Parts: sequence; structure tokens; C-alpha cells
Amino acid sequence: MERGTVGDLDHEQVVVRRGRRSGVPLVLAVHSTALGQAIGGCRLWPYPDRQAALADALRLSAAMTYKSALAGLANGGGKVVVALPAERAVTPAIRESVLHDVGDCIAQLDGAFATGPDVGTASADMATVARRTSHVFCRPTADGGSGDPSRFTADGVLAAVRTTCRFLFGSDDLAGRRTTVIGLGKVGAHISRALADAGADQIVADVDPTTRAVAEQAGARWMAPEQALVAPADVLIPAALGGLVTSAVVPQLTCAAVVGPANNQLAEDTVADQLHRRDILWAPDYLVSAGGIIHAVERELHHLTRPEIDERVRGIGDTLATVLDRAERERTTPHTAATRIAEDRIRRGRPVSRGSAPVARRPRAPRT
Ligand code: PHE
Repeated sequence: MERGTVGDLDHEQVVVRRGRRSGVPLVLAVHSTALGQAIGGCRLWPYPDRQAALADALRLSAAMTYKSALAGLANGGGKVVVALPAERAVTPAIRESVLHDVGDCIAQLDGAFATGPDVGTASADMATVARRTSHVFCRPTADGGSGDPSRFTADGVLAAVRTTCRFLFGSDDLAGRRTTVIGLGKVGAHISRALADAGADQIVADVDPTTRAVAEQAGARWMAPEQALVAPADVLIPAALGGLVTSAVVPQLTCAAVVGPANNQLAEDTVADQLHRRDILWAPDYLVSAGGIIHAVERELHHLTRPEIDERVRGIGDTLATVLDRAERERTTPHTAATRIAEDRIRRGRPVSRGSAPVARRPRAPRT
């Protein structure tokens, strides 16, 4: 059964409502609070219809449960999805009333769920949500929040890319490595900059053609996303919306690995098996993308210092090494191995102790 789908519906609670102020439909899905308060971003997006918004909320919230568990946090997973009207402009006034509706909805759950920024929202929007509820992460630092988490999400991705390269090529040196970043939003732009600093050979892609000049100035090759997706690469890094890797795309891929922060980047779970059969390493997105939530929680709730947080975020690379190792030992996919680790933690109701990186295994000898 596909995790987080309507068919699988094992969510603790799902609120579907029309915002009282804005009239705009929103879905708040709490997938699990087994390890603690559910956390998940607030997505504002023009969905084609309400069914699509509901389906996205269900799947994204389930992924957050796995993300928190693998990140060693005492938290569960949830998500808020707002189906913005496609037919009319979203004025600042509509936006504000939508965010207040989101805040009211969260407030009614009495602490079962807290939100943060996601596709279509930023740190400033969290300050608006916070006018209605205290269960909000990543408000601007000037307001006492932890601010924009995207730097940390990017750092976690880089750690995962390095682990992947060590596993596949025997070295985590990114100099000359062929990488493709799809999506130059906040997280993608940070990743691209870090890859440039590390001397990687980069293709970058975005739906917005104005990103081309910036990319080329930074020495990257720019392509349209559909071209970039199938261009030869060592590591493909999806950093835009989910659903990019479909079963139709897999046969056309020419990369050795897919390691990126886009949530739900596989169109369905079975695509993980298909990638595995093609010997393309897929680092689970719900593990790779945890840097932002780790930063927010460890800073705002546990008051860890910056060096401690950096270490926690780098721990994503160690957890991925554990996952790849286990996948190989158990002759399964990284997706299955990661799911087993997460479910084990959820079942035992025990996250990895706070402030320490998840147990790290030395990566095995490289494949030749
Ligand atoms: N968009 C973030 C994610 O998918 C959600 C988030 C980040 C929530 C930071 C809270 C804090 O991981």
C-alpha cells in the first residue's frame, strides 16, 4: 500500500476546511504524534482541485513522520496545504487572511501540530501565522524565531551527496563531480553555491528562464528542467516540487544517484524499486531534506549552539551511510532500509537521544 495515500489513510487526524476569513480551502493533516508533536511545513500552492490538495497533504504529512524519526527528533509528522485560487490573483490581503486561517486551524489542534515554512511560504509568513497560534517554527530571527531554514536544508543535502559519492566512487571530494541541480529556489540556490565552492561540474535548471544568467555567471551550465533531468550526471539533485521522478522517466535517467531535498520527489513508492533495478542509488528525500527541521527544532526547542546544530545536520550524511549499508546487507532498497529504521524508532516510541548525531557506521568499502 502506497504510504500516505487516501487508500492507506492511517493519519491521526485530517482537517479539511474552507478558511473562515479567506474562503480558501485548506487541509491540515496530522499523520503521527507517536514520537511527539507533529511538525510540517505550510504549503501555499494553486492546486487544480481540492482532491489534489488533499492527496498532497496526506502524502507530505506521512513523509514528515519518517523525516522526524530518521532525524532523531522527538516529533511526528504533519502538513498544511492551502489550495490557492488559480483563477484570481492572491493579493497581500488574501494572503494574510489565508495565513490567519491556517493559524486558527493549528490553534484548534491544541499543540498536536506545529508548522514552519514550505513551498510558497517564507519566514515572514510564519510571523503572520504566529498572530493566531504559538505553534510555529522559523519566524524571523528579529521576532525571536530561528529564521529561514533553507541554508541548513542545503547543508544536509551536501552531507548526503558526499556520503553518496563516498559510497559509489570511494571519495567524497566533489571537485569535478558531475552534478545537476533542478530547481533554484531558496534551497536549490544554496546547494548550487556550495557545489560551486566545492569545485563540482554543474548543470542547473529551473522553470524560470531568468535564472539562466545567474547560473552561467557562476560557471554552471543552464538547461530546461526536462533536459537536465536526463542529462548525464553523477548525482541528480531534485530541489523543486515533488513528483519529478516518474516511472516513465526512470528508463531515461543517465545519472548514478538521485539525492535531493524536494519532498516526495518520486511519483510513487514503486519508483524506488525501479531505480534500484536500474542500479541508480536513491537517497530517500525524507532523510536528505531534514536539515531545516533539525535546525528549527534543535534551536528553538532545545537551544543547541550553532556548532552543535551543524553537527546534527551533518549527521544526515552518517544516517544515510547507515541506510545504504543496511540496504546492501538486507538486499533491499535504501527506501525500504530507511523505512525500517524509522518504523523501528516509531514503534519503540523512542527517538535517538537529543543532541547526538544518529549512530554512524563507517561506510563500507566503495563499489568499483
Ligand atoms: N518545509 C520543511 C520540510 O519539509 C518543513 C519545516 C521546516 C517545518 C522547518 C518546520 C521547520 O522539512
